[in-house]
Amino acid sequence: MARVAIVTGGVSGIGAATSRALQKAGYQVAATFVSDVTAARRLREESGIAVFQWNVADFDACQSGVAEIVRTLGPVDVLVNNAGITRDTSLHKMTCEQWRAVIDVNLGGCFNMCRAVIGAMRERGYGRIVNVSSVNGLAGQFGQTNYAATKAGIIGFTKALALESAAHGITVNAVAPGYTDTPMVAAVRPDIREQIIARVPVGRLGKPEEVAAAVVYLVSDAAAFITGETLSINGGQYMH
Ligand code: CAA
Repeated sequence: MARVAIVTGGVSGIGAATSRALQKAGYQVAATFVSDVTAARRLREESGIAVFQWNVADFDACQSGVAEIVRTLGPVDVLVNNAGITRDTSLHKMTCEQWRAVIDVNLGGCFNMCRAVIGAMRERGYGRIVNVSSVNGLAGQFGQTNYAATKAGIIGFTKALALESAAHGITVNAVAPGYTDTPMVAAVRPDIREQIIARVPVGRLGKPEEVAAAVVYLVSDAAAFITGETLSINGGQYMH
């Protein structure tokens, strides 16, 4: 039986590349999305990957969404917490809504989804969780106090859950992509984006497939001894 993998935010950007790469590696993939029906339909039509619509910031929706995936595809072996949003602005202008939206999706979503799968993974003695952090959680970024807080938080979350899960056959790791060729990065003001790319030692944006390849490795049997780790994929932009 093919292993079952959930990729949140799995229909566009790094998430879509990860959904496709996991499918190519032999997994049965469930890609979740919140609103981009067009991208979801395109992914399903092009690849046959199953898509499911709910908001990862909603605890109850995660519980019922995961239950539906288990009914449709079987028990969940792999969870990739990729869903994330930005609400960039300097802190002195940031509204509570901008703060909370990013915390609730990026960090709350990670908790909600892990909470929905962890019990069954512990019972079955197997699981792979990869949480998507960011170079900006490691290095900080002007205009991203909310986003950087969630992406740094994900790293601590990953280490704590890795410790709790190690004796149960479950590894928990993070990837920290740098600036990658995705709709999220395309939305950065062009002059600021060009300044950032100019400071990346390899001199270009990352490709979503380059992040996806790292995720496929971290969920593989070959990576069974790696847990609590954060793997940077940033073209040398930040070394920690
Ligand atoms: N560095 C230094 N100074 C900056 C700056 C920067 N990056 N951005 C703005 N400033 C300066 C401005 O020049 C301005 O100075 P003056 O008052 O002297 O004119 C001052 O700060 C305030 O600027 P704004 O009023 O434009 O600030 P703002 O609060 O409206 O928003 C911002 C600024 C649009 C958020 C801008 O800082 C920005 O785009 N930052 C980068 C955001 C970014 O990289 N986001 C990444 C999104 S992709 C992603 O997150 C994926 C991933 O994981 C990598």
